[in-house]
Amino acid sequence: MAEPTTPLHTVSHGRTLPPEETLLSVRGLRKVYHTDGGDIEAVRDLTFDLGKNELTCLVGPSGSGKTTLLKCTAGLLAPTSGEVILDGKTVTGPPKKMAVVFQEYGRSLFPWLRVAANVELPLKHAGVDKAKRTALVEEALHNVGLDHVPQSYPWQLSGGMQQRVAIARAIAYQPEVLLMDEPFAAVDAQTRADLEDLVRKVRKELGISVLFVTHDIDESVYLGERVIMLSNSPTVVQEDLLVDLPEERDQLETRALPRFTELRHHVYEQIQLAKKGFRPDADPAQ
Ligand SMILES: Nc1ncnc2c1ncn2[C@@H]1O[C@H](COP(=O)(O)OP(=O)(O)O)[C@@H](O)[C@H]1O
Ligand SMILES: [Mg+2]
Repeated sequence: MAEPTTPLHTVSHGRTLPPEETLLSVRGLRKVYHTDGGDIEAVRDLTFDLGKNELTCLVGPSGSGKTTLLKCTAGLLAPTSGEVILDGKTVTGPPKKMAVVFQEYGRSLFPWLRVAANVELPLKHAGVDKAKRTALVEEALHNVGLDHVPQSYPWQLSGGMQQRVAIARAIAYQPEVLLMDEPFAAVDAQTRADLEDLVRKVRKELGISVLFVTHDIDESVYLGERVIMLSNSPTVVQEDLLVDLPEERDQLETRALPRFTELRHHVYEQIQLAKKGFRPDADPAQ
């Protein structure tokens, strides 16, 4: 493939921001799992910032520590060293202003609760009063196009609809940051395209920052304003790429842009390099 028409904006480490523009900071994050079979260094050293109202995608080979990073960021797993800082405060447990959507929607919704009750549950736990809860649930279901099923049970819905419920639950909670771990990996291609556009829409309308993990290169370029590529495990940032596509994305038009092809090509090459074990922190003498 020919060289890109305009140079790509990349840095070979995680991009950091001035404090006033930063919502979430990951600093020198390292995670070692201690197992019976020995220690597994899943994440070696990750540093990057998520800006306010920014949608950043994280891509990396399978087993490169994406889920580990997200769990540490969400305060569900303690880092071995380094820290995650949200709004100036170190994360030590699940922060109030953060919501997570996992891949396995089947297991993330309670089958004995109706759709509206599933969406309402975290608000109940947070002590939000009944009238406000009802309004937030209604609005969130409306935002994801599910006004018509509040009284259904999750298992009566398709996979894509169940994942919409999970997204509604996350946004009803009014987070500042939404973390998503390969949330569309298990839905069909058409539904996936719809859900991608839904994420961009709600994030714009609600002014949320999103950290979106995927192993799908096209999805990362289509969705993100930035793509952070991870090395293979033990993980460091392979590269941080600015996605200089127009803000308004369209499944057909955006994906047909020459720039989309260039960006996609570049991310693909980097991930191939990562899979082969090329990493920015390698000692060139070895
Ligand atoms: N609970 C755990 N105990 C031990 N090793 C783990 C655990 N969770 C993940 N790992 C290991 O850490 C590495 C990164 O895993 P993970 O974060 O799930 O990667 P990804 O989400 O990118 O596929 C893998 O080698 C995996 O086997
Ligand atoms: Mg994972």
